[in-house]
Amino acid sequence: MAQLWGGRFTKETDRAVYDFNASILFDQKLLQQDIAGSTAHAKMLGASGILTEEETEAIVNGLAEILADVESGKLEISPKFEDVHSFVEATLTERIGEPGKKLHTGRSRNDQVALDMRLYCRDAADEIGELLLGLLQAIHNRMKETTDVYMPGFTHLQKAQPVTFAHHIGAYFEMFRRDYGRMKDLRKRMNECPLGAGALAGTTYPLDREMTATLLGFDCPTRNSMDSVSDRDYVIELLSALSLIHMHLSRFSEEIILWNSNEYRFIEMDDGFSTGSSIMPQKKNPDIAELVRGKTGRVYGALVSMLTTMKGIPLAYNKDMQEDKEMTFDAIETTKACLPLFTGMFVTMRLNPEVMKRSAMLGFTNATDAADYLVRKGMPFRDAHGVIGRLVLACIDKNCAIEDLSLDELKEISPVFEADLYDAVSLETCVEKRNTIGAPGKAAMERVIAENEAFLKEAEAK
Ligand code: ARG
Repeated sequence: MAQLWGGRFTKETDRAVYDFNASILFDQKLLQQDIAGSTAHAKMLGASGILTEEETEAIVNGLAEILADVESGKLEISPKFEDVHSFVEATLTERIGEPGKKLHTGRSRNDQVALDMRLYCRDAADEIGELLLGLLQAIHNRMKETTDVYMPGFTHLQKAQPVTFAHHIGAYFEMFRRDYGRMKDLRKRMNECPLGAGALAGTTYPLDREMTATLLGFDCPTRNSMDSVSDRDYVIELLSALSLIHMHLSRFSEEIILWNSNEYRFIEMDDGFSTGSSIMPQKKNPDIAELVRGKTGRVYGALVSMLTTMKGIPLAYNKDMQEDKEMTFDAIETTKACLPLFTGMFVTMRLNPEVMKRSAMLGFTNATDAADYLVRKGMPFRDAHGVIGRLVLACIDKNCAIEDLSLDELKEISPVFEADLYDAVSLETCVEKRNTIGAPGKAAMERVIAENEAFLKEAEAK
């Protein structure tokens, strides 16, 4: 046990209490952020005349060496320290002596940890933004190739109207594009520097908060010291955005699992992204999609846990807030693992366009268009609805599609049918007639694809 206090205490902390209180086992993930924050703090203390030039240099170099040594494996983060902050300060003092003890001047662990967590979340938002772009690019590439791959569109998981594969996955492009936007938005809001807020009420030292904010890449210092140390909104915003990403990944996974099933066979998962069964030799299972879908629960769990932890905490810092870390780290790591795996699975899966097309035909997804055909011939829509209903029933009887019936058979149901019916209800026509903004017709899709291309170019350039 190596603790940062002592003077006021007449007795050592109980072992179990110490262990329960300690966070080193998980907050060591913040080492890089802690060292970046301490380096900026030391530089600012030097520039403000609170530390001498030599002291500043010794601290800055000492901190860089600690990071390098931990990264190379030369130095181990020992669990005998309470948290990552005490580990860094004690190791620094052990290595450089007196100046190490001056690093914490004008700072509290409360603003220190608030800073570390912000830096960590900011990095996560950037990295996850990049991973989202990778997935968006993959969806975009497939959209370009599949504007005439026809498939049934569903409502209630019942075949409804024909769409294209490009149109269907284009819906996910929109979802992940919004997710990408959320990463940008929340990064902007969290990009204010809490360092200098002290324990809760600022400090009497003439700290240059603008300077530390700039050194650490923040837009500005935070404006209220009590809020600075007790705000975890940015963690919750991030977790909420991650929850949405996982909700989208999970829905997409669910569809891929269905499409890959023996019953659908719309797609086939690549062997490299599938798993087998220990007993059933015929099995090729979509475990990756199932795991991505399954991991959604733990990300939602992190969000609900954090919302609940924060709801009753009086201002300013309370130890409850140490609970912001483990589940947040887990949610971030889960997202960072799921996005590239999902992308790899999506890129390598093969489509069965013929199966999709046949499924759309046998599912009467052109029934609305057949009714519209009769309306164009002068029949009131309600009557047309009834005629096509009877037509569908006849097809179910014969186990065929509308366009499989002969003109004679069609005329038996209604004399209004002519040979031009076949063209009117072909999947090509049904889809191609739908060219309003956002619809599956090729012309409409090509406009969207061009916009997506411009969006991706601009996002990649940033
Ligand atoms: N491990 C603590 C946390 O994560 C660091 C801050 C401790 N501050 C304090 N006043 N005990 O929140």
